[in-house]
Amino acid sequence: MLRFGMMVLSFLALAFAAAIPLRAEVAQETSPDGRIWVNVSDEGGQATYTVHFDGEVVMEPARLGLLFADHHGFEADLKIESYTRNRVNEAWEQPWGERREVRDHHQEMAVTFVSTQGPERRMIVRFRVFDTGIGFRYELPEQEALLGDIRITDELTQFNIGGDADAWWTPSRQFNRYEYIYRTGQAGEVDDAHTPVTFRQKDGEHDGLHISIHEAALVDYSGMSLLALRPGSFEAQLRAGFDGIKVHTKAPFKSPWRTVQIAPDAVGLINSDIILNLNEPNKMGDVSWVEPGKYVGIWWAMHIRERTWGNDGIHGANNDDVKRYIDFAAEHGFAGVLVEGWNIGWDGDWFNNGELFDFTKAYSDFDLPMLSAYAEERGVRIIGHHETSGNVANYEAQMENAFALYAENGVREVKTGYVADAGDIVRYDDNGVRQYEWHDSQFMVEHHLRVLEAAGRHQISINAHEPVKDTGLRRTYPNWMTREGARGMEFNAWGSPPNPPEHISILAYTRMLSGPMDFTPGIFDLRPNERPPVREDMQRGDPSNRPQTTLVKQLALYVVLYSSLQMAADLPENYEANLSAFQFIKDVEADWEESVALLGEVGEYVAIARKGRAGGEWFLGAVTDAEPRDLSIPLTFLEEGKTYTAQIYRDGAEAHWDTAPYDMVIEEMTVTSADALDARLASSGGLAVRFVEN
Ligand code: NOJ
Ligand code: CA
Repeated sequence: MLRFGMMVLSFLALAFAAAIPLRAEVAQETSPDGRIWVNVSDEGGQATYTVHFDGEVVMEPARLGLLFADHHGFEADLKIESYTRNRVNEAWEQPWGERREVRDHHQEMAVTFVSTQGPERRMIVRFRVFDTGIGFRYELPEQEALLGDIRITDELTQFNIGGDADAWWTPSRQFNRYEYIYRTGQAGEVDDAHTPVTFRQKDGEHDGLHISIHEAALVDYSGMSLLALRPGSFEAQLRAGFDGIKVHTKAPFKSPWRTVQIAPDAVGLINSDIILNLNEPNKMGDVSWVEPGKYVGIWWAMHIRERTWGNDGIHGANNDDVKRYIDFAAEHGFAGVLVEGWNIGWDGDWFNNGELFDFTKAYSDFDLPMLSAYAEERGVRIIGHHETSGNVANYEAQMENAFALYAENGVREVKTGYVADAGDIVRYDDNGVRQYEWHDSQFMVEHHLRVLEAAGRHQISINAHEPVKDTGLRRTYPNWMTREGARGMEFNAWGSPPNPPEHISILAYTRMLSGPMDFTPGIFDLRPNERPPVREDMQRGDPSNRPQTTLVKQLALYVVLYSSLQMAADLPENYEANLSAFQFIKDVEADWEESVALLGEVGEYVAIARKGRAGGEWFLGAVTDAEPRDLSIPLTFLEEGKTYTAQIYRDGAEAHWDTAPYDMVIEEMTVTSADALDARLASSGGLAVRFVEN
């Protein structure tokens, strides 16, 4: 393999009319291993980039640039003026995460484009090329031509995949935010998609090459979706604010990184730290108070109509129920008990009445100080909940006091929620006029950081539901522990339709590339809506809403879906009825020394191994879609020369998500790193294994 350093190639291009030769500059940077090349060019006066892998073009020339409302933009009449380069190969440590040590090994070029027409102005495009893909961002230095407020009306960044690739995506700008069943199809069918969007090339040279497009370090900017210009050719579509402007900024300024992960195989996408590496280091100082762990909660009971959030049924957040959950958590070693529906505002149409939520006032049957003390005595803590129903104005007015109240009562994690249709976030503008925002507009990007900072002042960590997508900000703000941002378990209670069997094996290669997800796994009663109603006026939902998985797959989710706060979501009584399967959830960790995706294909299956930070034990999780599969999983991640007892939870011979989801075999086997574990995964089944060193 030839290894190219950064170089600038010049060649002649004929000027259109006058036949005066113009020099088109091409700046090139490669990955440390030389397999990925990026060429940046000013041909025709436009800023463009091209991506090569193993010497072949994988992304055809695509534009770069920005347009502004009141200033000249960076669209045409540009030339490469200069470039700088940098090399980084260093490791940094995560306070918590899917691995302790993260290696940042990349080669960088920062290309300065200068205008050749109109007022002189400069834009830097900084590229970082890693062995697993590239990141690039715009930087606008302070300059005469860009004085005052800058209002971005369009980002011209394009991504040229080509129409003939497989694609997995969710639609953008639809009412249900990021919570859609994944589409599987051709790149040419993707019209407007949330990122990460994952593609698999199909043409000869690159057959099987995986590409996933996303962004990193989304701050002071609006979220990007991919809008098809032509089949397979996408433009960064920034979410506009209520005023139609996409981003309000000032020079000097930096955009988020646009990321293109590239991997020869599907698991290569998962085994990449690009997104984290492109984020700024921890800004919060000592974060030893951020503590990963497992929790249970007053939650699933509401989703399956066993309880209600408000007083219009059987109120779930009552002292007796909460004590029962605390006792259960203490008995089985869970760190937290989430309590939803504790505060005033849930009665009636809470989805549309966000202004009614009071974040410091509890229902009369919920005694926060008493319950916190009760929990503390048992070595457990309450996990708080702030549902805003998208009324961010109401929440921001109260959040300082709300976090203070929780902190006084020993609460160290708060789940937030923004249940509102996309585009219905409520805020007030500078004139006091009520306005509406998208969940991924600049206003919301900034709102989430205000929440993290306010929470951080009280040593509280955040788990946001209906959030803006993850872009790796947990590196900078380690109290952003997890979030939702895709269809989670709740859809299996009322989703109509529920999550299909292939859901997890797509999530693993799309949403999960962006960071941890509070999916809330571990449902043991797989037909929850077939339980008799608890009361005449609380009829269950449609019985066809149920987890379309085997029981083993529910266990495997604890390893496959990374979350630093990991819920055991079912009712305590359902765990008590199957303590032998529950043992895996009790044993598995939520914080990892190391993680490695071993094998899989997008939309089909995935196998991941992780080594716990506290106990140092390895765990393995594998899941499949509706297709049963025989997997032979090499145990090379285990330490050489040691023997282990593998505690195996596997699908039984009859297991099938639809007809025999509970058919499970629990067995032990002695293994070493030289072995491969052979297992048959049932239709929408899985495999969960704990390795205990002998
Ligand atoms: C939607 C969240 O995803 C879910 O977990 C929560 O229970 C409800 N909103 C109520 O806040
Ligand atoms: Ca949700």
